[in-house]
Formats: sequence, structure tokens, C-alpha cells
Amino acid sequence: MPPVTVTVPASTANLGPGYDSFGLALGLHNTVTAGFATRDTWEISCTGEGEEDPESGADNLMVIAMRRLFDVIGEKRGVAVTCENGIPFGRGLGSSSAAIVGGLVAANALTGAALPPGELFRLAAGLEGHPDNVAAALFGGFTICWSEDGIPRATHIDPPGGLAAVVVVSEQRLSTVSARALLPDSVPHADAVFDAGRAGLLAAGLALGRADLIGPGMSDLLHEPYRAAAVTDLDAVRRVLLEAGADGAALSGAGPTVIGLVSGVDDADAFARASAVAGRAAEPLTRCAGRRAPEVFAIDRDGATVVID
Ligand code: HSE
Repeated sequence: MPPVTVTVPASTANLGPGYDSFGLALGLHNTVTAGFATRDTWEISCTGEGEEDPESGADNLMVIAMRRLFDVIGEKRGVAVTCENGIPFGRGLGSSSAAIVGGLVAANALTGAALPPGELFRLAAGLEGHPDNVAAALFGGFTICWSEDGIPRATHIDPPGGLAAVVVVSEQRLSTVSARALLPDSVPHADAVFDAGRAGLLAAGLALGRADLIGPGMSDLLHEPYRAAAVTDLDAVRRVLLEAGADGAALSGAGPTVIGLVSGVDDADAFARASAVAGRAAEPLTRCAGRRAPEVFAIDRDGATVVID
């Protein structure tokens, strides 16, 4: 069996009101190459984001994911893995989900197991603990997750309108576990009603290509107000993105990255508009200490992909 190469996208989860439900894949990728080792050992070497920090977890997560699939199919051989990481760790851009999905898809292709996408999704969601980032990383585009009888499910929507993202990464990491620990066990009924309406608006806006629904659809009361205790510049960064012309803005996943969405007549138009938003936001964002300059990414419509030479 020759080595396989897989690209897997970053993802932004929640998008405001879709806590643990909505995901969107971004055109920022990790690349994983895996081949059977000559001995029954596992070797891994990574370059790019986090290469100086082998304890950060994502590398190990990729091996854990590969071994999980190997266990499912009874494969015992060892593997040599190399990865080029473009996705920053611990910032709310789905680095752990990319590691898990990259590992599962690579293991599936390498072994010829041919597990169906739904099975890979369930394995990935089980390893991650929440399904929204893994759905986007695996399927691409805009994904909506729910659960039935405790089984995670996902559907994928390829937004018909052009869409791009302006991403403001924080130099600080925030672990998802810590960011989830900030959330209360229950929320006021009125806040749940607020989010139900906004989630519907956002899903409709993305599914129909209605930019006018995307902005109001990105407001949230279920998790962002609580996480603002750890991401103290959330409202300031959001305001800069909105004043610079983003349709809407939200905490990306558990944060601390903040993301703005920009629509257009097609993806190229959206990318050009997002670049203009990033240009206008760059100077005001210099006043938000610890933030990288805004970066523009297309959305990824394909999800994890086995590269065919
Ligand atoms: N839905 C998850 C959370 C995403 O907000 O905790 C983590 O990236």
C-alpha cells in the first residue's frame, strides 16, 4: 500500500447562535501524509504551526484517531506520519478536529477500509467530544449537527452565495475545556428563544445566499457573554470587523479568535470584499493588544480530501 496524503481544513464553529451545532470549513489547511512503517512502530513528524510544541496535543490526537480506526478494522501495523500544519493550535479554528479528521481519513485511505463518511463522522465526534468542528472539517461548507438517541448526526450545505471569512487570531491560546467550563448549566428561557431565532436566520441566510440574514443571524446569548470573561476584547474586535463592513461577526468556536463573514456574488467577489474589510480593520485592530493582523480565507467547500497525484 503506497503512502496517502490528505488535506483537511480549519473550521469555525458556533458562528454565534449555533453552539455545538453549526460549523463552517475555511480555506486554511493541514496536510497529512501517512504510510505503513517497516516495523510495528508509530513515527510522527510535524512542521508548521505548533512544531515547536509537540505537547500541544494535536499531533497525538492524529495518531489516536488513526489508531482508533485501526482498532475498528483490526489493523495492527505501525505507521509513519508527516504533517504540515497551517492551522494554529488552541485558537478556536478547529485544530484538534483537523487532527482527528485528518488521522481518520488518512487511516481509512491507507488501509483501504473504506468506512463510509457517516461512520468517520461518528468516530471523529466521539473522539472530539462535540460534533460541530469535525463535521465541517470532514464534509466542508456549512454543516449543521444534531443528535438522535445520543448518536451524532450532521448535514452539509454548500452555500449557494459567495462567502469568505476575515479571521482575527489571538496570540493567546484558550483551551476548549476551559472555555466550556465558563458556561452555566442552564440559561434563561428568553435567551434560548433569542438564539433559536438567530440560528434559524443564520441557517436560512447561508442556505439561501441571503446576506441580509447572515448579519443578524450571528448574534448569540448562550455562550459568548460567558466566554467574554476570558476573551475580554471580544466586543471590541467584533465592533471593528462590523464597522469595517463584515456582514456579521462572532467568536470562532470556543475562541479566542474572532471571525467575520463577508458575502458576495461569488466566492471570488466575497474574497475581494473580505480583503477590503481586512484592510479597513487592520489599523483599528492594532489597538487590540495580542491580536494578529486580520487574515482572509475563502470557505472550503470540499472538506477533508485524499490527494490523488
Ligand atoms: N462548540 C464548541 C464550543 C466548539 O463552543 O465549545 C469548540 O471549538
